[in-house]
Amino acid sequence: TASPNAPFYQSYDLAADLYHHILVNTKAGQPALKYLEQRGMTRELIDQFKLGFAPSSDDHGILAQFLTEKQVDYQVVRQSGLLTTDHDGHFHDRFVDRVMYPIKNANGQIIAFSGRLLAAKGNDQAPKYLNSPETPIFNKRLTLFNFDEAKRAVRQEGHLILMEGFMDVISAYGAGVKSGIASMGTSFTEEQIQAIQRISNELVVCYDGDDAGQNAIMRALQLLTDQAPTLKLKVVQMPSGLDPDEFVQQRGPEKFQQYLANAEETPTAFRLQYLRRGLNLANQNELLSYLDTAIRVVAQVEQPVAQNLYLKQLADEFNLDQATLAAQLSQVEQQAQ
Ligand code: CTP
Ligand code: MN
Ligand code: MN
Ligand code: MN
Ligand code: MN
Repeated sequence: TASPNAPFYQSYDLAADLYHHILVNTKAGQPALKYLEQRGMTRELIDQFKLGFAPSSDDHGILAQFLTEKQVDYQVVRQSGLLTTDHDGHFHDRFVDRVMYPIKNANGQIIAFSGRLLAAKGNDQAPKYLNSPETPIFNKRLTLFNFDEAKRAVRQEGHLILMEGFMDVISAYGAGVKSGIASMGTSFTEEQIQAIQRISNELVVCYDGDDAGQNAIMRALQLLTDQAPTLKLKVVQMPSGLDPDEFVQQRGPEKFQQYLANAEETPTAFRLQYLRRGLNLANQNELLSYLDTAIRVVAQVEQPVAQNLYLKQLADEFNLDQATLAAQLSQVEQQAQ
């Protein structure tokens, strides 16, 4: 075919089919299949996402052998990122003993993999998830897991839901929430925000219910507000200790859907709560300093009605006079001008 990238797409297709076949049809795939079943992955989800398994091998690896048999061009293999080259110049499989998650581009073509260890090994050096390197067809900064499916789901669900990991997106999908996307292990980028804006005007940030997740929500909100001021943002905080995948597996699809619908909060409400974590608000100095910060956060809110709502909440919570809070808000706003 005409496109110089066609052989790369073909190689990734071949690899995904091979890994999927090994997972679902072979003895070598059985431990991985059992692992996925234990994590609540149905056969339907395994097929839908074409999950696979990259086995270990005594030789140079099953994919290295397979691509050689299929006579895939040497330069394509070399640049594909599917294999690595060892000291004596042989190709070896990059992914060994890992559950394989194909990553697709916006058109649904497989362009990369993320491979997960079945269990944390004794040697902690091996990363839990290993991603494909950048190649002619894979730009990490542009790519969002499940973007192609989520694109179709936006019309029905009315938004996209940004999650941390692949398993979160897959479990949500299994629970009927198909608008989930995840950035590629690394941090969330400007390019990904542009991609999001092209297909939706509303984004729900739904990260893990742990400290890392809360910090990541703060960073994502900052980036989103800077890069996409017109994008409507919502936050859903998972219950403490759960990520979306664990929520679905422990509490079931209905509860998950209800939670998404009911636990939505505004970015400002999230910030106000985030900024008071770890503070001792029984201490007057800490309380005053928190209120000062909180009023500065409220000052960034555009709508007067929303500002008023947050002030009322602060006033109620700390038993203060709302008019006094409003007076301080005006001061802050005047200083900012
Ligand atoms: N990640 C990674 N390398 C790691 C840990 C995490 O690339 N060593 C990325 C993965 O994309 C992962 C995401 O960060 O999906 C979120 O990390 P984490 O919450 O730790 O993983 P989970 O998605 O919960 O993965 P699992 O449930 O399989 O443990
Ligand atoms: Mn060798
Ligand atoms: Mn996490
Ligand atoms: Mn998880
Ligand atoms: Mn997680």
